[in-house]
Amino acid sequence: MGRVRGAVMAFSGTIVVLLLLLVQYIPSATCGKPYEYINLPKAHLPMYFKRFPALEKQCAEDETCPYRTVIASQSYQNRKEGCWGYEEGCTERNRYANHSCPGSHIGYVKSKQAQLDTFYSQADFGFVRDQMRETRIMCEPQFPHDSSLECSKYLRFCRGRNLMLNFTDLVRRTEPLRYKMDVLGPGQIGGHCRLHGERLRDELQHISPLQSWGPELRFFERLERPPIEAGVCDVVIERPAFIMKIDAAINMYHHFCDFLNLYASLHVNLSHAGGFDTDTQVLVWESFTYASPFADTFKVFSRHPIADLKTYAGKVVCFKNVVLPLLPRMIFGLYYNTPIIYGCENSGLFHAFSEHVLHRLKVRMTTRPDERLRITFLSRQTRYRRVLNEDELMGRIAKNPNYAVQRVSYGHDLPFVEQLRITRNTDIFIGMHGAGLTHLLFLPKWATLFELYHCEDPNCYRDLARLRGVHYLTWERDQLVYPEGEGKHPERDERHAKFTNYAFDVGEFERLVGKAATYVRGHAEFQKFLTTNANRAVKRKDEL
Ligand SMILES: *[C@@H]1O[C@H](CO)[C@@H](O)[C@H](O)[C@H]1NC(C)=O
Ligand SMILES: *[C@@H]1O[C@H](CO)[C@@H](O)[C@H](O)[C@H]1NC(C)=O
Ligand SMILES: *[C@@H]1O[C@H](CO)[C@@H](O)[C@H](O)[C@H]1NC(C)=O
Repeated sequence: MGRVRGAVMAFSGTIVVLLLLLVQYIPSATCGKPYEYINLPKAHLPMYFKRFPALEKQCAEDETCPYRTVIASQSYQNRKEGCWGYEEGCTERNRYANHSCPGSHIGYVKSKQAQLDTFYSQADFGFVRDQMRETRIMCEPQFPHDSSLECSKYLRFCRGRNLMLNFTDLVRRTEPLRYKMDVLGPGQIGGHCRLHGERLRDELQHISPLQSWGPELRFFERLERPPIEAGVCDVVIERPAFIMKIDAAINMYHHFCDFLNLYASLHVNLSHAGGFDTDTQVLVWESFTYASPFADTFKVFSRHPIADLKTYAGKVVCFKNVVLPLLPRMIFGLYYNTPIIYGCENSGLFHAFSEHVLHRLKVRMTTRPDERLRITFLSRQTRYRRVLNEDELMGRIAKNPNYAVQRVSYGHDLPFVEQLRITRNTDIFIGMHGAGLTHLLFLPKWATLFELYHCEDPNCYRDLARLRGVHYLTWERDQLVYPEGEGKHPERDERHAKFTNYAFDVGEFERLVGKAATYVRGHAEFQKFLTTNANRAVKRKDEL
């Protein structure tokens, strides 16, 4: 005992943790191409390399490094001071953000600056910054092979080393496990480290399945011996792992809330160069085999199959390195049901997420043969919220020679990545209220989302569009929309505008599309795009 105490005193807590966490990690460069693990969009490279200057130097000097020419380029050098926004010493001027607050601050906060700052910490990289600032050590290692656990406020983000999770009792659970708070019981999670029990208990205020890691970590106990060395583990997960409590994987709005939070968590955890590597293990905290129409998106984060609780039922599992990421339904989290300060838009975090996903799924913006606006109409094949006079509406705008109109149905027969390709090359995206509108996350900067009718849920996609920084438009004149019936909630005996179908006035529809078109055409980024596009088209002709 005396020796342990001595060791505690010799290493001051925080320093030892930092040392342990910052131990040079060598990403899996040995197999496959070296540097492949970086795989980031070009625009993100300055921030990434700024965080890992030794790697930048190595790459700049290494002929085999695929980023060598990028680093040498003028545009990179111009943005060399860029930073994500949460790093120590990252100034406001240099950070990756373009959020703005065109709406008034009066009645909300004291000044314009306060409004900008509020948005930044609610919905931009300031959110990541605050998670990092709040992070405290909950179980403190005293020897190099010890376990560790550190978490942000209310246990919304945690990371740990050499932790044991005992799933032995799960074999006896016959009911399906999803959104359960009793997957683990007392002592079924722990590590060999000095536990700050009171500190941990102080953060147990958000006990709800998808709000925090409280339901699991309240049972954390100190183990007598380091679990891996003691040989108590049936399975040792060597790869960096994410345990995820996901929302509804069949719904794009909800599932992308999982992915956005996972992406934000990569940043919270970004203390070594392999932070965006896909050589990771994902464990979904459910007994269901993971399946989702959006499953391809997981490839952005992990190249290995997704495990679930069945995979490990009956086993004692040890994680060398585990992240418990930010959750989809945190109180004041992102982005489900969160009140975001009025008047502000364009979160750098959302923009970076969008670029990251599109880059890794290889969804590109294509060169266009002409300057017509690309209009995509999302048609629903569902029972409710169908557009009754779709043909008539389409027919009207298709006559406009300045529009290239297409009607799509984003069903199971069109692979998700193909859907993204269409969205990415759309200037005006039109659709009824519904999860498919989450595609707005992947529209170009200059695009407009036209939510044909919000069905009395006016803020959901308006706010998401605001976060992502794309223009939003919806039906303006209630007397020109014609519901098929009153709309009745299928379970509750009440009227509900989401449960019927609608017809729309054609002239008014055309007018609103025109309004969206004017916005897109006037957008500086769109004009820039057209110029580059024209140059490319000419070049292509020359080459032929
Ligand atoms: C911010 O705006 C500038 C100027 O329009 C642009 O060059 C830059 O790419 C934008 N950055 C982000 C993160 O959107
Ligand atoms: C795991 O749990 C089972 C059943 O509760 C128990 O018998 C076993 O000792 C536990 N194993 C460890 C390593 O704690
Ligand atoms: C989280 O950060 C730690 C410490 O830098 C790192 O070792 C680990 O691989 C990261 N985890 C994931 C899942 O990326």
